[in-house]
Amino acid sequence: MAPRQADFPGEAQAENGGPPAAAKIRGSKRKISIARRRRSGYLPGSMPTDFTLDLSRRPRRLRRFASRRALVEETQLRAADLIAPLFVVDGEPAPEEIGSMPGVFRLSIADLVKECRELHALGVPAVALFPKLDPKLKDETGTEALNPATLVLRAVRAVKAAVPELTVVTDVALDPYTSHGHDGVLNAAKDNVDNDRTVGILRDMAVLQAEAGVDFVAPSDMMDGRVGAIRRALDAAGHTDTGILAYSAKYNSAYYGPFRDAVGSAQAAGTRLLSKATYQMNPANRREAVEEVLLDVAEGADIVMVKPAGAYLDIIREVRDAVRVPVAAYQVSGEYAQIHAAARLGWLDLVRTRQESLLAIKRAGADMILTYFAKDVARALRG
Ligand code: PBG
Repeated sequence: MAPRQADFPGEAQAENGGPPAAAKIRGSKRKISIARRRRSGYLPGSMPTDFTLDLSRRPRRLRRFASRRALVEETQLRAADLIAPLFVVDGEPAPEEIGSMPGVFRLSIADLVKECRELHALGVPAVALFPKLDPKLKDETGTEALNPATLVLRAVRAVKAAVPELTVVTDVALDPYTSHGHDGVLNAAKDNVDNDRTVGILRDMAVLQAEAGVDFVAPSDMMDGRVGAIRRALDAAGHTDTGILAYSAKYNSAYYGPFRDAVGSAQAAGTRLLSKATYQMNPANRREAVEEVLLDVAEGADIVMVKPAGAYLDIIREVRDAVRVPVAAYQVSGEYAQIHAAARLGWLDLVRTRQESLLAIKRAGADMILTYFAKDVARALRG
């Protein structure tokens, strides 16, 4: 349960000893007299003149005490709704905090395994792994992505061996592997990602991930036709139980900035302005999100995702209403950074804003949420 605060001093006492005198007003018709106002401490003259409220509906009744509010609460956030994105690096360095993401670290495989055990113990059912590669391993075509011993595959094997019940998700996209930071290989003119060639690489990448033991491959590249190609390749290789969590409606968003620092996909292009506008969706579009989602479902996606989450709550709702498969939402790095930054300045309350931001995503229709707050929230829910 979320920490529930008494809104008024004395409320907890009223809960035990019955409602305080002020609440014992019977009937919906009441005349607010000068005498009552005086008794209640209001100075005559500080309120409007006498009037009568004739209300049969008083929604505030349901908000009167914490116990009533609990009874009528429509949305709950559970640890079981959360997927923790985690960053992994090669070698045995100490955990390295990401500057723009307080409390988020790049972890060695050994530390990653430790973190996964802790998340599992806290009731977080899933993690999404992202590799941060040595820039020397990057090239134009992301060759390293198809290395059967590449970092993320070793990480998957280690996590699945240590915590087999934990659901492991891996990204299928080339951005951690390409020198330019794009999610695919470029065309000859280098002014666009080559869709069909990229799909061929992603398909092979997904099969390698399935072989390593992931539960879900998560194409986050936004190439056309990749879900179908991946599904067919997985089935042909016998991985019929490996699911596809499709980043179906992934927007070309400024909110990915801190993530690109974390995996070093911005630095490669030498600019934060790396544009993925020719494949990620235009933030102005809503109908197109439904189109993308329906295509991915038709191609075999088990779960569809909307990303980012907080600025796209309307899209989450639209998608939730359009399909029957589970819907995931990704509260991305920039959303996390924003809340932390404001909290550091003392402008927002971290815990309450965190809770509210995730509740809003769930209320909008997300069945599960990828969030960098996963561990903190799971801990807070434990009390
Ligand atoms: C790329 C990928 C991105 C994120 C997840 N996978 C960034 C991008 O598209 O550049 C962003 C996640 C975040 O910001 O937290 N395949």
